[in-house]
Amino acid sequence: MPEMETATFETDLSLFKYDNLEQLPASYRDLDEAERRERTEAALDVLGDDVIILGHNYQRREIVEHADFIGDSYQLSQEAANADAEYVIFGGVTFMAESADIITDDDQTVILPSMEASCPMAGMAEALQVDTAWAELTAETDANIIPITYMNSYADLKAFCAEQGGLVCTSSNAHRAFEWAFDRGDKVLFLPDKHLGENTAHRLGMEDELAEWDPWDPESDAAEAVEKDIILWEGYCQVHERFRTEHIEQVRGEHPDANVVVHPECRREVVEAADVVGSTSTICETIENAEPGETWAIGTEIHLTKHLSRWHPEVNVLPLCGDACMDCNAMRQIDPNYLLWVLEELVEGRERNVINVAEEEKELARVALDRMLEV
Ligand code: 13P
Ligand code: SF4
Repeated sequence: MPEMETATFETDLSLFKYDNLEQLPASYRDLDEAERRERTEAALDVLGDDVIILGHNYQRREIVEHADFIGDSYQLSQEAANADAEYVIFGGVTFMAESADIITDDDQTVILPSMEASCPMAGMAEALQVDTAWAELTAETDANIIPITYMNSYADLKAFCAEQGGLVCTSSNAHRAFEWAFDRGDKVLFLPDKHLGENTAHRLGMEDELAEWDPWDPESDAAEAVEKDIILWEGYCQVHERFRTEHIEQVRGEHPDANVVVHPECRREVVEAADVVGSTSTICETIENAEPGETWAIGTEIHLTKHLSRWHPEVNVLPLCGDACMDCNAMRQIDPNYLLWVLEELVEGRERNVINVAEEEKELARVALDRMLEV
């Protein structure tokens, strides 16, 4: 498989959550890979234990090769919670870095090398919108609705969920979060990923209890929605929605012995047709545990598929929809040149692109995250 290239610096994202967004200085834009690697390693040597780099599985090769820990969203929040370093450099997207800032101690600083790394799905459930929906839904029922937000959401929504007796989940513990909620309430409002919500309902045998809530549709009927026990917010990930059952049929047609592993952000019918479904760490474990010579088609973000192909050359790793598989535009914003820049600035005693969740949100959002870490 060809190596990923370093992306250009242009971006069409405009979902910046922080106004201290700083752009990369021009002198960092045209570095060749050997110089960048050498300078990155030199800066890390100087910073030593003051810095830890956490990298999500979807980060590009030039980031994960410098990461102290690579993992899924849940594992990264655990690592952030246990980190002693003064600086946590987050190779991931804004909502993950926010969660790290919420979970780490007050004297620790979280840096997101490029603040333009904003997950579009997180932007599909704005706390204000959720407030309005909440008022409409709760007005239609006396039942106790527990809100659960997927980690892929901003801190204000996590705070809202805590305030209303709910919690956060990731793709690896959504089923446990639902069980936690049903132990304490009657219904769940799940935000923002309708596919993860639907897949979790099926896992729990509650597929007949699904209703959808589309915040953009003025016809959304609250009275109808609260007749069911699980209300799904109309949000989705465009990287994962791309996978279709036709891709699975095609891969099995071309490779009759192929196995298929997909992320639970994929559509229901794709998850049903796959052999294995799970978080990015489950996908990694599946390939680690595969026998040499086995063929596995992977339905998730393309950087992870490329890492797995590189890390496990003994396994035949294929992208589930071939060239149509997408990289995550948000994850891609963490460019290795940005990483070098924030590290060299720290060596000089300057902090760049610091993630600072507002105090009033932090306390509550932490409650929702702590509940998740306990389920
Ligand atoms: P994981 O929690 O499985 O790492 O997934 C995060 C994500 O953003 C998937 O799109
Ligand atoms: Fe968000 Fe999808 Fe990217 Fe995950 S892959 S960070 S859900 S846009």
